[in-house]
Amino acid sequence: MRSDQFGETYHSVYGARSESEHVFISAGYGLTDKNPVSVLEMGFGSGLNAWLTLLEAEKLRRKTLYTALERFPLGRSQWEALNQNRQGSEAGYFKAIHEVAWDQQISVTDFFLIRKLQVDLMLWKPDDFFDVVYYDAFSPEVQPELWSADVLSKVREVMNPGGIFTTYCAKGIVRRTLQSLGFEVERIPGPRGKREMIRARVRS
Ligand SMILES: C[S@@+](CC[C@H](N)C(=O)[O-])C[C@H]1O[C@@H](n2cnc3c(N)ncnc32)[C@H](O)[C@@H]1O
Repeated sequence: MRSDQFGETYHSVYGARSESEHVFISAGYGLTDKNPVSVLEMGFGSGLNAWLTLLEAEKLRRKTLYTALERFPLGRSQWEALNQNRQGSEAGYFKAIHEVAWDQQISVTDFFLIRKLQVDLMLWKPDDFFDVVYYDAFSPEVQPELWSADVLSKVREVMNPGGIFTTYCAKGIVRRTLQSLGFEVERIPGPRGKREMIRARVRS
């Protein structure tokens, strides 16, 4: 799916699900065994990352508190189209996540509690702390303001000690900005079609 506004796809053209599983689930959520665990997603978008996290939370029976920020929510027809080839409980969970009202906290399952906030990251007033951050903004080429030191520092401030920040982006400027904010930064192998990605941690 492509954003008309930003001219960029929501996920890798090499496979949305495999990218999301690699960048956010394996390299982020799967790296901590905190239970309960609190996750912040920048850019709820199609809901794919949230849905995959719910499936993982169910599998691991891990209580997950998921906060997602989104400035431009998709319309029902857009997310329904993305769910049309799914069946059974997987389809039901995707629908349930999308039907959660904005700005409310709702338990979708016993293990997955979500709060979707319709807000601009730049104006967001955080009221919580997070163990894992999925930084899934559009690229620095199209939204450089979301990768600035000011904005990434705002995110850094709401991360718990030992917190993990993961993103598909591998840009040197982003890596250096994260380092300048005190993160321990790694370049790790990216998903299919991308040599590298960035993962950063807050010192424990
Ligand atoms: C790469 S997409 C996210 C994909 C999403 N994580 C998923 O699983 O489908 C980036 C998202 O950031 C949202 N966005 C753009 N500018 C924003 C801002 N200033 N604050 C919050 N969200 C923003 C876009 O509307 C888009 O949904």
